[in-house]
Amino acid sequence: MRTAIITGASAGLGKEYVLAAARKYTEIEEFWLIARRADLLEEIKAMLPACLSVKVLPMDLNDKNAFASLKSLLESEKPDVRLLINNAGYGKLGYVWELDADVQRDMIDLNCGALTAVTSAVIPYMSAGAGILNVCSIASFVPNARMTVYSATKAYVMSFSRSLREELKEKRVNVLAVCPGPMSTDFLSRAHISKGASKTFDTLPYCNPKEVAVKSLNALSKGKAVYTNRFLYKLYRVLGKLVPKAIMMKFSKC
Ligand SMILES: NC(=O)c1ccc[n+]([C@@H]2O[C@H](COP(=O)([O-])OP(=O)(O)OC[C@H]3O[C@@H](n4cnc5c(N)ncnc54)[C@H](OP(=O)(O)O)[C@@H]3O)[C@@H](O)[C@H]2O)c1
Repeated sequence: MRTAIITGASAGLGKEYVLAAARKYTEIEEFWLIARRADLLEEIKAMLPACLSVKVLPMDLNDKNAFASLKSLLESEKPDVRLLINNAGYGKLGYVWELDADVQRDMIDLNCGALTAVTSAVIPYMSAGAGILNVCSIASFVPNARMTVYSATKAYVMSFSRSLREELKEKRVNVLAVCPGPMSTDFLSRAHISKGASKTFDTLPYCNPKEVAVKSLNALSKGKAVYTNRFLYKLYRVLGKLVPKAIMMKFSKC
């Protein structure tokens, strides 16, 4: 069955990816929706056309048993995965020594470890013309003090995506890293970014998750390697490459 697998599908950008992919990929017959909150996944399932088969897969991607059940499902269903969207992720605002060490480890496990594990488990079920979209961030361009671990995880996602893209060229599977700026989603509350908590988040212009989803899926179809929304963040990406990090980091603190 031609299948799309989307992690972090219960809310925010992931929800927009489900809706945008269902509209764009008319050849896809089945969606696998992954996140922890089953009730929200069911609500999103109800928003999809009735002709689509939808598997609601409530799981914590940091739970090794849950991940093993995903692997078993892949083995039993042998789906023809046309689209994999690795979107589940979160950040925390604060100095490294202020944040709980276990939470920081959990963040690394989800943003890097789970993304890597899901990708490596799914690739054997992908063929020419399929695509992998990894949700990265503008935080991958320049390290961000007060979001040190988060920006390091997203630098991993960028490096992983670029290198994997090279590995999968022969198989003709494109890999895209999507780098949104701030978006008004549950990400902010989970990261403890409320008004006044971060001058950077208070000042920066916000990206629209719906627009990010639609435009980045188009970029994936075009075979692009990186997608960044808004002119300011495209400029930031270029500056991040040209200007020494020590200078850029004077402005990138959260
Ligand atoms: N919002 C921003 O400012 C911003 C900017 C740049 C990049 N991003 C990136 O965009 C992606 C989506 O974030 P968002 O803004 O849409 O935030 P969000 O609304 O909090 O969505 C995060 C998604 O990840 C899922 N998730 C979290 N922990 C999980 C776990 N352990 N296992 C399985 N699923 C899990 C959540 O679902 P459950 O809670 O139901 O599990 C939710 O569906 C993230 O990778 C984030 O780093 C966000």
